[in-house]
Amino acid sequence: QTIGVTCVPFSGGQPKGGVDDGPVEMIRFGILDQIAGMGYETTISEGMDKYKTMRPASDPPVGKLKNPRYVSMAARRVADQVRAHCANGSMALTLGGDHSIAMGTLVGSTSVYGDDLCVLWVDAHADINTPATTDSGNLHGCPLSFILGLCDQDDELFGWIKPCVRKDSLVYIGLRDVDSGEKAILRKHGIKAFSMHDVDRYGIGKVVEMALDHVNPERSRPIHMSFDVDALDPSVAPATGTPVRGGLTFREGHYICEAVAETGCLVALDLVEVNPALGDPESLRQTVAVGCSLVRCSLGETLL
Ligand code: ARG
Ligand code: MN
Ligand code: MN
Ligand code: MN
Repeated sequence: QTIGVTCVPFSGGQPKGGVDDGPVEMIRFGILDQIAGMGYETTISEGMDKYKTMRPASDPPVGKLKNPRYVSMAARRVADQVRAHCANGSMALTLGGDHSIAMGTLVGSTSVYGDDLCVLWVDAHADINTPATTDSGNLHGCPLSFILGLCDQDDELFGWIKPCVRKDSLVYIGLRDVDSGEKAILRKHGIKAFSMHDVDRYGIGKVVEMALDHVNPERSRPIHMSFDVDALDPSVAPATGTPVRGGLTFREGHYICEAVAETGCLVALDLVEVNPALGDPESLRQTVAVGCSLVRCSLGETLL
């Protein structure tokens, strides 16, 4: 099995600098050697520096959306790189970068696996605002609305993103900061979500089982897991742009990854929103380390 790694040093989906250094810090921490040490081949997408230089000279907001051209161009490139890995039969591992890049990772994975693909979104946030519902205008809060087809499909900048994931093929774990417009969307479309309340009530083991039962009852469909490190409690992953208290413990986060690995169905994994610029050196080290260990667990590292 080959792991196709795409590094996306991109911060245009939100206002804080530093999240573009997430991939480099994870590489410095040894993620690529760790993956190789588990016995995988790795192939790495070329030209990660291009994500920084492709920022347009002028990129005024469109409606409320900030950096819309830059986000669109970067996501398009991510889509091509992830598609190439999936088409080769590699597992696509994407290191972000902010979560807007998931527009690209999901277009890439679904262009190979189609409707069969299901999505497990692990996050404090629902990231399903539309250009109409977003308050912040930050596109990292919006990727799923484009992917599910909740936005204007004639949009000049984002019209290349065709609806590619069915609403019943998406499930969330870890939610605890969902905007009111997003709550309305989740309700209206009956999108399945397990919040931290559910994790408290049922325990993480049961929650993961219920989540997988919803999108993948036979454990036969390919899985794309998009893991926002802010799903973890800020005491576990402090260096991230939009921390929310009351999150997953270290073990709960790892359990999700281990359980997904056990299915043998994982075809694409995003690990996003590690921001090494936020907090002291120890917060940074801790967050980068936990990001790397979530990746290893998702690829099959076990405790025993
Ligand atoms: N819901 C808020 C917004 O739309 C926060 C989104 C945070 N997203 C993230 N990927 N960290 O601005
Ligand atoms: Mn988040
Ligand atoms: Mn909020
Ligand atoms: Mn997110």
